[in-house]
Amino acid sequence: MPMIRETIVITTDSEGRVHIAPIGLIAEDDDWIIAPFRPSTTVDNLMAVPFATASHTDDVRVFAGCLTGRRDWPTVVSEEVPVPRLAGALAHAELAVTGMTDDPQRPRFRCCVVRLTSHVPFQGFNRAKAAVLEATILVSRLKMLPRERIERELNYLQSAVDKTAGPQEFEAWTWLMEKVRSHFGG
Ligand SMILES: Cc1cc2nc3c(=O)[nH]c(=O)nc-3n(C[C@H](O)[C@H](O)[C@H](O)COP(=O)(O)O)c2cc1C
Repeated sequence: MPMIRETIVITTDSEGRVHIAPIGLIAEDDDWIIAPFRPSTTVDNLMAVPFATASHTDDVRVFAGCLTGRRDWPTVVSEEVPVPRLAGALAHAELAVTGMTDDPQRPRFRCCVVRLTSHVPFQGFNRAKAAVLEATILVSRLKMLPRERIERELNYLQSAVDKTAGPQEFEAWTWLMEKVRSHFGG
């Protein structure tokens, strides 16, 4: 299996409207593959404007926020591509699409890295951040996974949040738990 890096992918439509989505970039040699499931605004945008940015952030509120209706995160202009990046990124890659493999379900956009810039030093691992990221993935699959599995895995992740979270992680966790409760009707 290839390595996948969880990032915040930003694309724009032909009128410059910005779209922010958490997406796992798939490593392939020195390139990255963006592979969104259809229907997808990211797919539509990459067909119209074949550039993206991948923002690396440890503010897990951005991941949890995008999955809970909070997509409006501050962005700033990029250096070499006509698509902005996340203002709060620790680092970001500017990507240009070099090829596309179409597929009715999951097209793949191969991207080369035009520029890679570091903004803030890496701050170290935090278990609550990892737990929120895992919970965000579970929340993105609420309609696909059995309730019992979701509750068991969230229960396990909760202990890392209780023991190691800071304010950002608590806030993100709260958004996710609200969504889980409203999905299961409780
Ligand atoms: C960490 C993480 C990684 C994700 N990776 C993908 C991915 O590789 N492909 C995908 O279609 N959706 C992925 N998702 C779900 C998308 O963020 C979500 O469905 C999003 O709305 C994409 O659709 P859009 O292009 O219409 O915004 C991921 C979500 C999270 C939290």
